[in-house]
Amino acid sequence: MEKHISVHSPGRWTTLRSVIAITLSIGLALLYTQTKAEIASPIYPSLHKSPFQHKQYSKGLQKCRERFIFPSRINAEAREFNPRLNLYLNSTTKPKDFSTVIQNSLLLNGDGNVEQNLKDIYIANGLIYGIADAGSEESLKYNVSINPSRVIDAKGLYVTPGLVETHSHVGICTQPELRGVNDMFELMSPTTPFTRTLDAFNVGDPAIKLISFGGVTSALVLPSANTVSGEGFVFKMLVPPSVSAEQMLVQYDPNDTSPNTSINRQRYIKLACGENPKRRFKSLTSAPKTRMGSAYLFRSLFARATSLKEEQDNWCDKLEQGVDLNGKPFPESTELELPVALLRGKVRSNSHCYETYDIETLLRQAREFHFNITAIHHALDAYKIPDIIKQQDNKIAIATFSTEWGFKKEAFQGSVFSPKILDDNGIEVVFHSDHPANGGQDLIIQAQFGHNFGLPADKAFAGVTGNSAKVLGLDDRIGYIKKGYDADVVIWDRHPLQMGSSPLKVFIDGVSVLDAPLNVTHQRQSCPESLKPITTTEQKLESLKGLTTFIIRGIEKSYLNGFNVEKTGTNELLVQNGTITCFSKNCTISNVPVLKLHHGYLSPGATALTITHGLVEMPSEPETGDGDILDSGILNDFNDPHNVLFAKDGLQLESAHLERAHNSGTLRVITPPFRNEGHKFLTGVSAAFETDITNLENITKSEVALHLTIGDMGKQTILPTISSQISELRKLLVDNRMKDNIYGRALRGEIPLALHTNNKYVMLQLINLKKELVTPKMIFIGAIESHLIADDLAQNDISVVLSPWRCQRKFWDERRCLTGLHGTPTVVSVLKEHGVKFGIAVDDDKLVKFLFQEAGIAASRSIISPQEAIDSISTNIDDIFGLPHQNGFLVTEGSPVEFGSRIGAIVENGKLVNVFPELEPKFEIAQNY
Ligand SMILES: *[C@@H]1O[C@H](CO)[C@@H](O)[C@H](O)[C@H]1NC(C)=O
Ligand SMILES: *[C@@H]1O[C@H](CO)[C@@H](O)[C@H](O)[C@H]1NC(C)=O
Ligand SMILES: *[C@@H]1O[C@H](CO)[C@@H](O)[C@H](O)[C@H]1NC(C)=O
Ligand SMILES: *[C@@H]1O[C@H](CO)[C@@H](O)[C@H](O)[C@H]1NC(C)=O
Ligand SMILES: *[C@@H]1O[C@H](CO)[C@@H](O)[C@H](O)[C@H]1NC(C)=O
Ligand SMILES: *[C@@H]1O[C@H](CO)[C@@H](O)[C@H](O)[C@H]1NC(C)=O
Repeated sequence: MEKHISVHSPGRWTTLRSVIAITLSIGLALLYTQTKAEIASPIYPSLHKSPFQHKQYSKGLQKCRERFIFPSRINAEAREFNPRLNLYLNSTTKPKDFSTVIQNSLLLNGDGNVEQNLKDIYIANGLIYGIADAGSEESLKYNVSINPSRVIDAKGLYVTPGLVETHSHVGICTQPELRGVNDMFELMSPTTPFTRTLDAFNVGDPAIKLISFGGVTSALVLPSANTVSGEGFVFKMLVPPSVSAEQMLVQYDPNDTSPNTSINRQRYIKLACGENPKRRFKSLTSAPKTRMGSAYLFRSLFARATSLKEEQDNWCDKLEQGVDLNGKPFPESTELELPVALLRGKVRSNSHCYETYDIETLLRQAREFHFNITAIHHALDAYKIPDIIKQQDNKIAIATFSTEWGFKKEAFQGSVFSPKILDDNGIEVVFHSDHPANGGQDLIIQAQFGHNFGLPADKAFAGVTGNSAKVLGLDDRIGYIKKGYDADVVIWDRHPLQMGSSPLKVFIDGVSVLDAPLNVTHQRQSCPESLKPITTTEQKLESLKGLTTFIIRGIEKSYLNGFNVEKTGTNELLVQNGTITCFSKNCTISNVPVLKLHHGYLSPGATALTITHGLVEMPSEPETGDGDILDSGILNDFNDPHNVLFAKDGLQLESAHLERAHNSGTLRVITPPFRNEGHKFLTGVSAAFETDITNLENITKSEVALHLTIGDMGKQTILPTISSQISELRKLLVDNRMKDNIYGRALRGEIPLALHTNNKYVMLQLINLKKELVTPKMIFIGAIESHLIADDLAQNDISVVLSPWRCQRKFWDERRCLTGLHGTPTVVSVLKEHGVKFGIAVDDDKLVKFLFQEAGIAASRSIISPQEAIDSISTNIDDIFGLPHQNGFLVTEGSPVEFGSRIGAIVENGKLVNVFPELEPKFEIAQNY
């Protein structure tokens, strides 16, 4: 797969900088060929004849030489000491204190392969010192030679290299988000190749630690949005005692005090095409508004970079030829330094692009200016054009998401099967979280979903370890557990691709960053299966669609209330004329169409609390539905109840979002009025409807709850504080106590008040308001800090819809959420223990189609059963919002809250409405637009 060539460092240059070992990887590496080295090494003969010129231009001469110095690769085998370990040493702590052996490891390495035999892994001097079969003589030898201070018995748990993130904004977009520490978007110009994330990296970002608890030990931190955005750096996810950002660099070298410009390091440029550069600079009059404008700016910048490169080469040629340079110094530019280095093949390019034609434009630009694309990021449409992507000389990797879809036009065509399709076509796929877009601590979940939708397990795991390291050109030191590699090691509680997996111990450079007790209940657990494709036999069963008399055989388990499968064997479910007439081991009947499952699970359909379902198709395109309220003022005159908005008035059915929700088992949604920039104080009244209805008459409930947002998110010009929001809410309720309007109904408890809030104290204020006003029925939505007030919630009969249940800590109001990592409690566990009625939702509509998996992850990290997890996304939500239970159910092949399961049948109102539905129906717009 990967060829290596060796390039000898030209003898005369060794004084310049010692290049430790130069093994250049073809594959993804930016290359320097032997030919060039040979041409380069005997240059400047005439300099000897012109000593004066030599001296005057010595700086320029060095720059001329540096043109041919490329990122060096280290020879890990020969490494003896990891310089970062020094940062942890002092008068009392010696390197020896960090020597560790992890015995009996089930080693899953960076190539995604599991070692047959259990291994003992030795860590010394911040490096992997040796790996040997557990208890072998070789292991004993290592043991004698380092005499480890720490002995950990992994007892057969999975041990892996630390995960490598290929696209993060950790440190430059600190969590919780505050203006003072958000340094992600430099808007001075659409092209900012001179910006560097190292210059803004906040070592105080609490997300660094959280991310490391997710097993992520290194991350490429990229700038955002601009056509030519700037330079990224790869950081270790551990802040040293010195709190130095430079010392967190993976390529930290104590002997090199200029990591910005160091000549033999891997460097990274971030580029972007498509919607982001088009949108971000709306306010700059001179900035591009179209892709054409962005492309022009890109070309204009690279044309200037090309000229500068030529000028430099001419200058060096003249110097070499002894031509008088008339005092003119080596031509340079702060603005163009990075693009010129890219043109010289010294920088890895990482480009954010989604649409096929954006990718093609990027490749055209790369051809025009003769640079290579290392990785195309996000790239949700890349699966449609593997042949175009493979045209480039060097191998382009796709760094992507596995769950992203639908929120903007360029993300609309995304497919969960894209990693598999790309891999089938020989394109390397790695995953990124784009933290904080997705929490960096959940990077492994990207690999899990990629695998669930068909990417082979080894590729999925390599896509967050070894292959990611290759994309960064750092697979000479991270991404693998190999002798001499950085000792970045993770011990997992179960197979990392299993639902709910979590690191229990994490080491970075041999330093322990997470040290939870090992729980060996999941040892030697195997990798989960991928979703099986729908077979042709199953496809043929489509003819059963629409039947009201049928029998479903092979039901092993039931999560549907009132239906219990007998302990031994499987059950059958008979529906006759739209009524369930039998559920037992043997429903005696003949001549009824049969649907037979291998491992059938009966389950209710999910009810999702959504943001846009049924209102807008693409939130960033208001044309695609009801529209976007923006700050039109329509919601600002709260006092007149006639101004309250109802989602029922804006519904448009039969959308791609609804169809995908339906086909993944979300049979009902509850949607409040939509506002793209987030809900403000008064959101309006939600509607509930089944996801496959085509007639507005069939809405389940047109007025479900009155939604308000209280807290930081609810702040707006006329209600700039939380206290003003609460007093406004009090006034609206009290003033309408006796009136027959929405506020009066909410006060009297006739319609629930759905209050979107996360903050502990805001929730306590609202509980006080509830006591004061006596009757309102309150639901807290979001409520991620509700574990802190679980008793108050239970005592005051307030239900909670966690939206999401996963802890992100993106905003101030959610900074105290429970991570639920390494066996610590989740908010779900705490609410259950305190008897609070709760449901689970997602705060991002792309995840609606993964609601069952979200519930499954919640169950596997919490103390709730699969039954409780399913209830939390179905009947609990219905109960909380006062809706009747669904008149429908699912039969899945495999447990719906495990990976690898799929829907065999959807039955609604006694009718078989779907048989083995495609997860991604060929919805016209999604396919063709
Ligand atoms: C020395 O370093 C260790 C670990 O890096 C730390 O726990 C300890 O507090 C330090 N001691 C002193 C005296 O700085
Ligand atoms: C830094 O330079 C010193 C002196 O030349 C050398 O002993 C040491 O090994 C170097 N450190 C690294 C990490 O290269
Ligand atoms: C691009 O990649 C090819 C193939 O790996 C290599 O030969 C070429 O030198 C690279 N060009 C640049 C400018 O990096
Ligand atoms: C280990 O896991 C099991 C099953 O999940 C759980 O019951 C037990 O409490 C855990 N033990 C520890 C020490 O965390
Ligand atoms: C179902 O409907 C058909 C036609 O109306 C009728 O003949 C049959 O008896 C019904 N079967 C049951 C079980 O109700
Ligand atoms: C179901 O019941 C029928 C009639 O009693 C019997 O003929 C058949 O063998 C039974 N099937 C099974 C699988 O028990």
